[in-house]
Amino acid sequence: MYRKLLGAAAISLSVSVCAAPAPFMEASFYSQNDPFIQNYATALKDLSLSTGEKITINYAQEDLLKEYQQIELAVKNGAGVIIYNPVDPVSVHQVIALANSKDLPLIFINRQPADNQLNSYAKAWYVGTDSTQAGAYQSEILTRYCLDHPETDRNGDGEISYYLLQGQQGLSDTVYRSMSLNSSLKNSPVMFRLAGSSFADWQSDKAVSQLEAYVRKHGMANIEAVVANNDDMALGALQYLKSQGYNSGDPDKFIPIVGIDATERALAAIKAKEMIGTVKNDYAAQARAAFRLAYLAMQGKEINNSSTGYYLVNGRTVYIPYVKIYFE
Ligand code: GAL
Repeated sequence: MYRKLLGAAAISLSVSVCAAPAPFMEASFYSQNDPFIQNYATALKDLSLSTGEKITINYAQEDLLKEYQQIELAVKNGAGVIIYNPVDPVSVHQVIALANSKDLPLIFINRQPADNQLNSYAKAWYVGTDSTQAGAYQSEILTRYCLDHPETDRNGDGEISYYLLQGQQGLSDTVYRSMSLNSSLKNSPVMFRLAGSSFADWQSDKAVSQLEAYVRKHGMANIEAVVANNDDMALGALQYLKSQGYNSGDPDKFIPIVGIDATERALAAIKAKEMIGTVKNDYAAQARAAFRLAYLAMQGKEINNSSTGYYLVNGRTVYIPYVKIYFE
């Protein structure tokens, strides 16, 4: 009997030792249908492989509830940190409350929450970019091109009319990239005029149909440049302009297009001289910063400039710089 009990005790002991899994990283992305996000997720996976830190990656298919439930399940399964790309950066309080209730670090990425949300939880950080920098860089790229190519003013009215394709309405990337682009173009030595603008939600097919609708109504004469909040929409613009005989090799029929991200397809279009440039949104550096922050926070280490190797704005935000890319 005694032996039997001892055996049972030994078994339950070994079971309970095995049952305590090592904490892992949970990363949740708003969508899988977005090339920049796909690259970001792959970079996180690669970091997990090279360091041996376990990571689970979920995609929320733009569904707020689904995202919450996936994170909740990961927390139940023993996640030690949450890397969080919110479906809607305005509706993040539930995930903050969940992380808070389990004392788990929460690393927001890509979609910036409001400062008061971020500051409401002592273990919350944000890794992203300063979106105003991207708009200013796009303006520099376009200005430089127009100075070198006065023929860009096809209708000869002394100003360059541009169409702006914006990302999802309300996101800080959309708002600040657009605002800084428009204000930088206003201060440019070249005269620019905003001919039209629409929200194509980062997607190339929406960019195609919105440009098409604009041209059907107003004609091509007022499209002398296209600027997009990201490369996929810029590539949608390119597809549409090509269908109208532009940007297909005839130097008299060229409309400069500038994007943001530096996706592979956009870089190929720049190399082929179909787009004039883009602004690199450095997903690899952002993934490294998020991973490092997550790792340190999960270990309960102090987060500061020297521990992360990154400069922290207000102690909570890491901005990875953008880089201008254009053909000579
Ligand atoms: C931006 C990126 C877009 C899109 C968006 C998603 O930073 O430039 O292409 O991925 O994030 O929130």
